[in-house]
Amino acid sequence: MSIPHFRNADPNSPEPVTFQILQQRKHTGRPIAALTAYDYATARLVDEAGIDLILVGDSLAQVVLGYDNTLPVTVEEMLHHTRAVRRAVRRAIVAADMPWGSYHVSVAEGVANAVRFVKEAGAQAVKIEGGASRAELVEALSAAEIPVIGHLGLTPQSVHRMGGYRVQGKTPAAVSALLHDAHTLEAAGAVMMVLEGMPREVAARITGEVGIPTIGIGAGPDCDGQILVIHDLVNLSFARPAKFVRQYGDAAALFRTAIEGYRRDVEGRAFPDDAESYHLSKEVASALESPEMRRKA
Ligand code: KIV
Repeated sequence: MSIPHFRNADPNSPEPVTFQILQQRKHTGRPIAALTAYDYATARLVDEAGIDLILVGDSLAQVVLGYDNTLPVTVEEMLHHTRAVRRAVRRAIVAADMPWGSYHVSVAEGVANAVRFVKEAGAQAVKIEGGASRAELVEALSAAEIPVIGHLGLTPQSVHRMGGYRVQGKTPAAVSALLHDAHTLEAAGAVMMVLEGMPREVAARITGEVGIPTIGIGAGPDCDGQILVIHDLVNLSFARPAKFVRQYGDAAALFRTAIEGYRRDVEGRAFPDDAESYHLSKEVASALESPEMRRKA
């Protein structure tokens, strides 16, 4: 197996973000900005924009690979995309989502798969969904020196059990269960947790009670940071945006205009023009016109 080259030795590279830095931000109150990315080009833009944490989310199953939900994406596919992101990123932390099935059979298999994300793709952390039921795995991963990001609330890998993508934590019993899950993840060694699809009040309560940073998505503004799926942010998801999504740009419109313009120009012979073409040198061009070359042809 070849050893991948993850980071260049450019002395001008910006100071890399660490989990220690993000932990301090919980106390200084400066929010953590996180986003997903799945490929080299996007990850470069996200990193260069100063985003602190880049998640190679299993949402790529839907927004990149076109599946209906996140369940079909494989470890191999996640590794492939994590490597591409890793090659692009100089400053942000790169975390990889463990896909469904890669940590559900046994703790040993979960650790073995997580090791692949670090060793073969250069991930600095893995994210797993679930609370108290994952405590043993979080402990084992932490013991293996792999930083773990938890994920509570609306956990998309539980879509069938939840009966769809529904906001979680809406009853007193459900809130107690979420608080228990959050404390259990922290005690097991998680370095951070994503809070997805839950009432703002519940996310605020968890954020106030745990000592590690919380990163919200559809969980209101009181978390220690926020994350969104980049395709939602730039209107590339081909889906009605969820209530919590704010679109900051319209890449679909940009792409459509560019692609339609290209098609029109090709069909009208307006592309390429002479300036966009390579040319023979004058000498070769006139040699080609000589009677001798013409006779050969
Ligand atoms: O897969 C994903 O993109 C995620 C988040 C956005 C938290 O899990």
